[in-house]
Amino acid sequence: MKLCGSYIITGGNRLEGESYVSGSKNASLPILAATVLNNGITKLYNVPNIHDTKVMIEILRNLGCKVKRVRDKIVVDARGIKKHEIPEELMRKMRSSVILAGALIGRLKKATFSCPGGCDIGARPIDLHLKAFENLGINISKNTGYIHCTCDTIIGEKIHLDFPSVGATENAMLASVLGKGTTVISNAAMEPEIVDLQNFLNKMGAKITGAGTNEITIQGVQKLKDIGYQVMPDRIEAGTLLCAVATTGGNITLKKVNPEHLTPVLEKLKECGCKIQEEKETVILEAPKKLKAVDIKTMPYPGFPTDMQAILVSILCTAKGTSIVTENIFENRYKYTNELKRMGAKITIEGRTAIVKGVRKLTKGVVEAADLRGGAALVLASLTANGKTKVKNIEYILRGYENLDEKLNSLGAKITKEVE
Ligand code: EPZ
Repeated sequence: MKLCGSYIITGGNRLEGESYVSGSKNASLPILAATVLNNGITKLYNVPNIHDTKVMIEILRNLGCKVKRVRDKIVVDARGIKKHEIPEELMRKMRSSVILAGALIGRLKKATFSCPGGCDIGARPIDLHLKAFENLGINISKNTGYIHCTCDTIIGEKIHLDFPSVGATENAMLASVLGKGTTVISNAAMEPEIVDLQNFLNKMGAKITGAGTNEITIQGVQKLKDIGYQVMPDRIEAGTLLCAVATTGGNITLKKVNPEHLTPVLEKLKECGCKIQEEKETVILEAPKKLKAVDIKTMPYPGFPTDMQAILVSILCTAKGTSIVTENIFENRYKYTNELKRMGAKITIEGRTAIVKGVRKLTKGVVEAADLRGGAALVLASLTANGKTKVKNIEYILRGYENLDEKLNSLGAKITKEVE
């Protein structure tokens, strides 16, 4: 990924008005991978047009699928799939492409991929994915950095995950859809994106129950059928837009959102002093002049989402009081705090805990994004800093947010893009 883009953000404006949420990145990626399971044509709607979905589409094409995007509709024709190997350079572009392994094994009974590198938020091992595959009778061999998975048939089995890993849960589901017999995943992840994947697969003719609970049952079927499916809204983008307005003391009517997916975030924003109204597909937020400090512990869903940790920390930097934030999911998800400290934030990191002492105002500066959510945190911090802040390496942010600058500008922010 070439890193040469920057946002120039003039802080100090109150954000107010109406905006909307795009489709979920973290639901789109496993659902795009799952189209490989159908020897036919699948139509997807509301897939965000972002770096990560573009990479996933590039990989599907590389495997032999025909993929075309017509505005917000993506059509995947997986009849011509002929390769089972995910090229290393594409794996490197996006580590979550490991989710294709389960779908490739499910369809072709084999998959080869390179060990996904660690990334900007931790080692990101895939031991739980591989253990789940072995439970299903898949042979796994490793050499020169490549992992080869093969099997004659997938035999449904009991799979217990040591940790409710989102990716491992999704991969075990995908590998089992066309298997023989029944797979039961216990200690499964319960994220809404897993429910969206179940709904998508069942619409194609799979027989899956339990997504959203910690036990998911997949009854193998012979064949899937051509369907169209609308991907769920992005709950992390929704949380990001709400926090952007909250930190500027503004108000927002946020549309095309599922409030139920946001409960842990909305509860924290209420604790910070925001008034929140929830309707069917809308959240209305009115922020106080100054937010109050709150304590946060990230947990697997339905706990507070780790993907919102950086974003909350950034708005707590100018809250009244001291906040204690504990990151329980990833071991290295505080790198962005060094950049916030360059803007005058008072943050002390002790192991997995960040102690955030609220200051009156952050100061403008030049900061660098080093990961997706940390980058978004720097954008939100710049909204309240006086003067112009330059956020570099915005390619990290463009991985997961569709038109973030345009959405914030439509609420009254002043963000321009600059390419070196
Ligand atoms: C998904 O990543 C999301 N990505 C992440 O969002 C999100 O932060 C994460 O789930 C947790 O909610 C996508 O859905 C594409 P995990 P995933 O497997 O599946 C450890 C974003 O910003 N682990 O639930 O990779 C792992 O190291 C991204 O949108 C193992 O030890 O997350 C981590 O500490 C970032 N072994 C923890 O579990 C394994 O085999 C949670 O990982 C797998 C995971």
